[in-house]
Amino acid sequence: MQREKAHGLLFRRGRVIDPAQGLDRTGDVLVMDGRIADVQPQIDLSADRMSGIEEVDATGRWIVPGLLDMHVHLREPGQEYKENIASGTRAAVAGGYTGVACMPNTNPVNDSAAVTRFILERARERGACRVYPVGAVSSGLKGENLSEFGDLVGAGAVAVTDDGKPVANSMLMRRALEYSRIFDIPVISHAEDPLLSHGGLMNEGPVSGMLGLRGIPRAAEEVMIARDILLSELTRGRVHIAHVSTAGSVRLIREAKRRGISVTAETAPHYFHLTDEVLTGFDTVFKVNPPLRSAEDLRAIREGLADGTIDAIATDHAPHTVLEKDVEFEFASSGMIGLESALPLILALVREEVLTPMEAIAKVTCNPAGILRLPGGTLRQGTAADLTMIDPDASFTLDAGSFQSKSRNCPFHGWEVRGKAVMTVVGGRVVFAEGRIMI
Ligand code: DOR
Ligand code: ZN
Repeated sequence: MQREKAHGLLFRRGRVIDPAQGLDRTGDVLVMDGRIADVQPQIDLSADRMSGIEEVDATGRWIVPGLLDMHVHLREPGQEYKENIASGTRAAVAGGYTGVACMPNTNPVNDSAAVTRFILERARERGACRVYPVGAVSSGLKGENLSEFGDLVGAGAVAVTDDGKPVANSMLMRRALEYSRIFDIPVISHAEDPLLSHGGLMNEGPVSGMLGLRGIPRAAEEVMIARDILLSELTRGRVHIAHVSTAGSVRLIREAKRRGISVTAETAPHYFHLTDEVLTGFDTVFKVNPPLRSAEDLRAIREGLADGTIDAIATDHAPHTVLEKDVEFEFASSGMIGLESALPLILALVREEVLTPMEAIAKVTCNPAGILRLPGGTLRQGTAADLTMIDPDASFTLDAGSFQSKSRNCPFHGWEVRGKAVMTVVGGRVVFAEGRIMI
């Protein structure tokens, strides 16, 4: 990674939004030596201090803490033809993200310190942004024996999950939640009852009936969320529900939070922009797990975001190539890429008055950082200078063909959207600016 000439950057007259500090006002942000040096309505630097500091006109733009995606699949090690740490983090910074938490369903599975260390080393060598590995709950994701959480955390893992698969065995989940408390990490739950979802290809409902595709009932997700809430209550371990997709899930989580249980939740843009109606063309780009649900679920997800039931918006960036997608619906892999389309889709919730700008930014900065106990997610003075400059009004067409990701399975390809990252800064270094990767 090359070093910047300037040792500082001064963003002028931006709309500075930092939910962690309750800040939303026009002002200047000074970055020096990799840190946030100052945030003020106006920063005046004497001529000698100005030397080596590059000024950036941020008029009409938002300056926000670097976005954090707490749920991505980088596919390295093992499936580098779909994505690798270099391409996945390039996609991240192009989308405005300065950090990503990567899921352990790689090959080999990230169930050991060796794999966690490998990921971190690769990220240091070739990564464009920060990478936070998530370890497996069970060795080999087999759902039988717990992995060594202590080794994983010692090597740098920030959470555990068997994502891609549920932890079907309730006793194992109980033990995982108990064990996780020692390390103060959340257990991320891919909530799916495998017997209820077995053989399912899409949401169970009128559309699946019409298409003749086997359905996955909402209850497959909801019974597991109910179980995990009860196990969190029993163990006082922190459970984080991944990719919430149904109205019933939102209701369960809302009620659990009201009762003071340590549950947090995330959803992804496809669950608040798409419904199972899009599957009538049998296009496998829309095949995802959990599946796209109904308009009523979509409304409930938006309500859950608005009232704080759903803490975070992640992408569940799940790259697959045409090899896995260009086949019969039944045989196609589940998953969608999201890193390079998420920001405008999240900002759409602001325009539609579902979320305020502050709330929307919180769901991709301080909220996920808080859940994973990561240091960033704020523009507080003295913290590492991870920040994103957003042009909230830029209109453009999402074009998967121009993405940094190695994969093209974007369900929003061709959408006319508004709002994009125009500059991404990691640790004071400009890694993405005006459409170009800078490292
Ligand atoms: O659709 C999905 N794809 N859901 C998951 O839980 C896993 C992911 C993947 O790894 O492809
Ligand atoms: Zn999952």
